[in-house]
Amino acid sequence: MVYAHITGWGMAVPEKILTNDDLSKMVDTNDEWIRSRTGIRERRIASDEESSATLATKAAIRALNLANLKPTELDLIIVSSSSPEHIFPSTASLVQDNIGAKKAGAFDLSAACTGFIYALDMGAQAIRSGSVKNVLVVGTETLSRFIDWTDRNTCSLFGDGAGAFVLQADERPGGVLSSVLHSDGSGGDLLTLPAGGSKYPASAATVRDGLHFIQMDGKGVFRFATRVMARATKEAMEKAGLEIEDLDLIVPHQANMRIIEAAARGLKMPMEKFMVNLDRYGNTSTASIPIATVEAFESGRLKEGDTVVFVGFGAGLTWGALATEWSGPRPVEKRVNHGAYLFWARIRSVILRLMRIAEGVLWGRYGRGK
Ligand code: COA
Repeated sequence: MVYAHITGWGMAVPEKILTNDDLSKMVDTNDEWIRSRTGIRERRIASDEESSATLATKAAIRALNLANLKPTELDLIIVSSSSPEHIFPSTASLVQDNIGAKKAGAFDLSAACTGFIYALDMGAQAIRSGSVKNVLVVGTETLSRFIDWTDRNTCSLFGDGAGAFVLQADERPGGVLSSVLHSDGSGGDLLTLPAGGSKYPASAATVRDGLHFIQMDGKGVFRFATRVMARATKEAMEKAGLEIEDLDLIVPHQANMRIIEAAARGLKMPMEKFMVNLDRYGNTSTASIPIATVEAFESGRLKEGDTVVFVGFGAGLTWGALATEWSGPRPVEKRVNHGAYLFWARIRSVILRLMRIAEGVLWGRYGRGK
């Protein structure tokens, strides 16, 4: 029997901080309103040089470093994002090239703020099936690029960032224990980024009508979220054959403090069992759970053997939960020099590009064209 263990984790957030006071100079809002309704004090905003792929790459390298795994040992890269670099190529393929994971398959997964749970589950299933051994799962967002900065209903909620886990096969029991994934597309209109896809491709009209910005029915999303968080947590624990009392820590999607408090009431659990850092990052969508996990570990709230549930909800509508037995980083005999791997990854990428140019020239001269 093979188990999927979380052996590495890392996060990356932009340096630029946007506080509630900063926002109050841009739209009709104030710190008191935002803090009392959401719990958010500030969020990070990507600079012009940063993107979903650059943040994902940084988080991935940190996770690989902790797992002490070479990028060349990765079999699969799954990147979850609602703000991918492009429609295609996938952000996962860009990360694969950036880190030099030359034998890894790579694909993007879209399940909005629940995406990291979906991606973790897919990675763990691939390991349990025996088809792969080492998987990199990344949640990355630069949703600041899709926010109407004149809309106070949405601009105070979201922030940018990325988080990554390394999953590895091991015969030792533990790691990912169970998961539940759900969707209800009938609520798709509650939270949407309408244009830029095949239904409303970019046009002067879609730009004029603001259809490339996030649109949200805040109250509708709030009602849905408070309904599903506790329920999904219970389902995942039940599926793992565990009681709610066995839980050491819950890492919820970091959207709104009041939603997390409602989940705590629903589970009859004290807030101390919940990891919360949304006050400093806002809602980083699919990146929020891995970012909160990294900070839970760094602040000593996650120890080997702990039972942890990750639970999230988001556009789609989607929601889900995943129960794990935390296994901590593996003991390291010899450290992998990731700096060298990254250097060779850049060289390799340039050589592959040059070879493609040379191939094009040769093909034109001696190939089918002649
Ligand atoms: N500052 C000041 N006023 C704001 C505001 C802001 N940043 N954002 C919204 N408002 C206003 C609205 O315009 C509305 O005004 P109106 O009544 O004149 O139309 C009013 O506040 C709504 O207030 P209220 O009903 O008390 O808001 P709320 O308690 O429902 O809180 C949200 C609003 C958006 C914070 C809350 O509904 C929420 O968090 N929903 C979930 C959103 C979410 O998590 N989305 C991501 C999911 S992954």
